Amino acid sequence: VHTPRVFSGIKPSGGLTLGNYLGAIKKFVATQGSMETIYCVVDLHAITVWQDPDDLRNATREVAAGYLASGLDPSQSILFNQSQVSAHAELGWIFNCVARVGWMNRMTQFKEKAGKNAEKQSLGLYAYPSLMAADILLYHATQVPVGEDQKQHVELTRDIAAKFNHDYKVDFFPQPDPVIDGPATRVMNLRDGTKKMSKSGQSDMERINMTDDADTIAKKFKKARTDPEPLPETYDGLAERPEARNLVDIYAALSDVTPAEVVTEYAGAGWGQFKPALADLAVSKLAPISEEMARMMDDPAEIDRVLAEGADRARAIADPILAKTYEIVGM
Ligand code: ADP
Ligand code: NA
Repeated sequence: VHTPRVFSGIKPSGGLTLGNYLGAIKKFVATQGSMETIYCVVDLHAITVWQDPDDLRNATREVAAGYLASGLDPSQSILFNQSQVSAHAELGWIFNCVARVGWMNRMTQFKEKAGKNAEKQSLGLYAYPSLMAADILLYHATQVPVGEDQKQHVELTRDIAAKFNHDYKVDFFPQPDPVIDGPATRVMNLRDGTKKMSKSGQSDMERINMTDDADTIAKKFKKARTDPEPLPETYDGLAERPEARNLVDIYAALSDVTPAEVVTEYAGAGWGQFKPALADLAVSKLAPISEEMARMMDDPAEIDRVLAEGADRARAIADPILAKTYEIVGM
């Protein structure tokens, strides 16, 4: 039996979005204190697509600042960036030798990101779920709070753990569970409701950044694509209205109520009423965080210090698990 332990991470591949906040960070904060929590800035994942080195350094600090400003506390959670703990890359290699090519071929996120150009992508982008399995299993984590888009990768992590245990006749790695709950497990793009909101690969008007100012947030929600119908009487009435449902879900997640309650409150309201209310709500939640992030970004040395201290604590857990893994494998 494995002690409950939470691991999750965010890629420093651009500015943080409302999707990252509602799908990940807000849940990281909610989990903190109830069990051991480890939150990583996964910079090794970011370079699966080329990053300008200075931008990468900056984005790593920005994700860390986003964690801290949202309420993650280094005395309660281990906060660090992945590349400082070399055991991630080492266990990732071992898992490359456990995972099967056929498993990677089934990963929908690679297919979506690569499009018709799979042959031109980095080998790292293709193998990235195997490194993600290492991130999680290196800490024997049992719970992984993520957005819906990461569900398949956590399932692959379970398959890798099971195959490793089977191949080496051990009961060493746990079967981690994805934790995907609440109304905002898949925040959609504001202009194209068929795509998830993401910090990379889409234009700025399509997403809300955690650091957007009040006017920008209001403008983006105002221009968000919707249908012309007013809000229905019940949440079921949004079943065939994905863009409208997305805005209701965002409102619900930001205000910690159910989407059904939002629909009840705004039944019959038009977008001219709902969108400004949503913008005000988003500003009231994000402005204090982005102000704190800006303050922290003025002192990068302090962020680096927090990350270095977190890396020391992460290594204290990871290194013995990696050493045991090598021993099991015969090294
Ligand atoms: P991005 O796609 O913005 O680059 P990452 O791949 O770094 O984000 O994902 C970091 C975390 O944020 C993951 O748990 C992921 O599931 C979550 N996440 C990312 N985008 C969304 C979204 N649009 N809705 C909900 N959760 C999301
Ligand atoms: Na992503």
